[in-house]
Amino acid sequence: MARIIGGVTTSHIPAIANAMTQGLEQEPYWKRFFDGYEPVKEWLTKVDPDVAIVVYNDHGLNFFLNQIPTFAIGCADRYENADEGWGLKTLASFDGDAELSWHIAESLVNQNFDMTMCQEVLVDHGFITPMALMWRHFPKWPVKAIPLVVNTVQHPLPTAKRCYQLGQALGKAIESYPEDLKVVIFGTGGMSHQLQGERAGIINVDFDLLCIEKFIDDPEWLTHLSNDEIMQQAGTEGIETIMWLVMRGALQPKAKLIHKHYHVPISNTGAGVVVLENMEKQ
Ligand code: DHB
Ligand code: FE
Repeated sequence: MARIIGGVTTSHIPAIANAMTQGLEQEPYWKRFFDGYEPVKEWLTKVDPDVAIVVYNDHGLNFFLNQIPTFAIGCADRYENADEGWGLKTLASFDGDAELSWHIAESLVNQNFDMTMCQEVLVDHGFITPMALMWRHFPKWPVKAIPLVVNTVQHPLPTAKRCYQLGQALGKAIESYPEDLKVVIFGTGGMSHQLQGERAGIINVDFDLLCIEKFIDDPEWLTHLSNDEIMQQAGTEGIETIMWLVMRGALQPKAKLIHKHYHVPISNTGAGVVVLENMEKQ
């Protein structure tokens, strides 16, 4: 059977992808941020997943404000990357696993999550930045990847609670797949940030750090926050952190903490990394 070995939270901002392309990892501005990913890369090498499910929001590349699903899943064997305006280098395409995607879609719909199924998805920086952070040192992507897209752009957005519940259903979907696959889930986005308006640039370190602790040990606490409360505390784009809850819901409630790291600022955001590992089932 397929097994979720663990999950990683990560920022997905385009400045990170550009810094990697330009080889700036050792520059003073970036070093501490990138150092925070070394234990993640070591853990991924150790657990050696077959598939990564990347939970991210599209930023106007594949979906736009005229048509935007609340939750969508890629059901293709290949995903192409394109840049929607950040000057990012286009990365090599990603192998998908359409069979697993369709299984997940069917299971989620049967668990009352009405997914949009996409046989074509162009993936943007929200997807490629995490993939490059984890595996740019490989000659080719070492895993198959599945995009799971959450609307964090066009209000009304799904609630934190709904995202957590989607994760719980996603966990059941993956673990009912008959093939022996090791699956890792990336919850991308966050933490504090706001890109426009009077509060542009807001960063709330105390709230970010509280969210990281709750995320690890008491994720239910986060599900009681309203989207308004999250945006008041963390900025309008800080709402991206609800996508972490999809990853957290898919993992065991007492998953093991492997690594945590917080760095601020990267661009105008707080960047949080958490690696959680599921316990082996007896
Ligand atoms: C930035 C942050 C994002 O989440 C994003 O999608 C694009 C840009 C930024 O802070 O620059
Ligand atoms: Fe974003």
